Amino acid sequence: MTAKKSIKSIAVLCSGGDAPGMNAALRAVVRYGIYAKLHVYGVHKGYSGLLEGNIEELWLRSVANIIQRGGTVIKTDRCKAFHQKAVRAEAVNILRRKKIDALVVIGGEGSFTGGHLMGKENDYPVVGVPGTIDNDVYGSEYTIGFDTAVNTAVEAIDKIRDTASSHDRVFLVEVMGRTSAEIAIRVGVSGGAETIVVPDEIEGNKGIDSLIKSLQRSAALGKNSSIVIVAEGEKPGSVYRMAHELKTRAGIDARVAILGHVQRGGSPSAMDRYMASLMGAEAVKAVLQGKRDLAIGQVNGRIARIAFKSIIGRHKKPDRELLRLAEILAS
Ligand code: F6P
Repeated sequence: MTAKKSIKSIAVLCSGGDAPGMNAALRAVVRYGIYAKLHVYGVHKGYSGLLEGNIEELWLRSVANIIQRGGTVIKTDRCKAFHQKAVRAEAVNILRRKKIDALVVIGGEGSFTGGHLMGKENDYPVVGVPGTIDNDVYGSEYTIGFDTAVNTAVEAIDKIRDTASSHDRVFLVEVMGRTSAEIAIRVGVSGGAETIVVPDEIEGNKGIDSLIKSLQRSAALGKNSSIVIVAEGEKPGSVYRMAHELKTRAGIDARVAILGHVQRGGSPSAMDRYMASLMGAEAVKAVLQGKRDLAIGQVNGRIARIAFKSIIGRHKKPDRELLRLAEILAS
């Protein structure tokens, strides 16, 4: 372990899927960093941009008028090359050559894994800010972008419900979140969905069997239309197979709506701007205190610091009580 040296300059990048609120987090890192007398550099296009040395110093005005913008003005990407140790070492060399003392990564668990390995292998400070619509960073109650994505999906579901009730139809609505059930559950409860299908119920017969039962139960209760929220899972589009199974096994006609990337875009909600502002500033504070190898998160409603090692490789489980509650409330 080398002696802790004082931090004079930091870099910030976005990595993984864009999320509404990433710009607000960037703004907070830049402005809090400059307030703390640091030089702050923006890396364009995630880890790939870092490897290309696509780095520029940012100023107070560089982040003006972005708090309300979706996406990320410094761009993002998913960098496969970063899975290689030698590539991560080269990234640290580039930062050191530019006299940048620490890196703030705004992204999800995959991006934190890259940052954790890069930092550990090369004795370099890395701090994460959770930015992903999926809300799947283990140990943190919240990730930036989740609230906006949920609101976008709920708005879409309200519209779909008009058609569902006018035509007495069943709709299967697929929401994003990959293997995480967080978006599906929040959207299902908030949108008054009759049923929520979580990722581990998508493949195989168990999920379909219980979906059929649940739709039959709804029909017996006098419901003529139903909204079923289906988590995306590993393979987006599996919802078409589910619709087919409903038809062939139970004669249930279901329409499919895949909300897809509309959930990732748009102006961030006040909640996302707020959390991004707090988390971005906290990341800079952590770096200044010589902290590293951790992410900022929310624990028991408060902004907290969570070691990368307690996040990486771990996954939130679907909240079964909430799933049950959604069904009770939609009866
Ligand atoms: O991680 C965010 C997310 O939107 C997931 O919900 C989704 O599965 C994935 O990214 C889609 O990634 P891409 O935009 O690279 O297709």
